[in-house]
Amino acid sequence: VKGLFVPVILGTARPGRRSEAVAQHVVDVIKRRDASTQLIDVADFGLVATATPGRGLDLAVYQEMMEDADGVVVVAPEYNHGYPGELKLLLDIESHSYRRKPVGIVSVSSGLLGGARMAEQLRLVTGALGMVTVTPSVHVTNVADATEGDGDLFPPSLQAVLETMLGEVEWYAARLRGGETPPS
Ligand SMILES: Cc1cc2nc3c(=O)[nH]c(=O)nc-3n(C[C@H](O)[C@H](O)[C@H](O)COP(=O)(O)O)c2cc1C
Repeated sequence: VKGLFVPVILGTARPGRRSEAVAQHVVDVIKRRDASTQLIDVADFGLVATATPGRGLDLAVYQEMMEDADGVVVVAPEYNHGYPGELKLLLDIESHSYRRKPVGIVSVSSGLLGGARMAEQLRLVTGALGMVTVTPSVHVTNVADATEGDGDLFPPSLQAVLETMLGEVEWYAARLRGGETPPS
């Protein structure tokens, strides 16, 4: 939908991360759907608890983007059935500007469950942030095969779920826009 800004958070800084390709695809699809977007990469922020050197981006940049966002999509892999620590650190940097904004979750895994357990855990966090977590989530299975072999990262059935999820984010974003600001 034109006029909406829906940034995508890439929630892992792991060297060799495959979720990057997934996040890039989501960015491309959001652009095709005529909303504006930007990739927010946890690796850019030099978060203290990560072993990955950051690229010096100021956390204020993240906070500003969250303030501007009408909705958000999070793409993250499942690590030990949970979400990556960097993602939680980045989310925790900000507090008030998430409120009453829609968020869609894309989970990634090299296994058969596509990170579904991570997605469910992340819902608890996004709920605590006051966000509206849309249904469906998108679960990318067998990411290693798709990125390194001849598999398809987003086969038609999964692409359809992605489009449905983005449609939900846009639906809420269009209606809840500005709702994070308390009425004066
Ligand atoms: C620390 C760690 C924990 C993992 N735990 C899980 C897991 O709980 N469930 C799962 O399906 N895959 C797990 N995997 C495998 C990941 O699905 C696989 O490495 C995938 O490529 C992760 O996405 P990434 O490449 O973006 O890091 C784990 C991988 C790592 C590095």
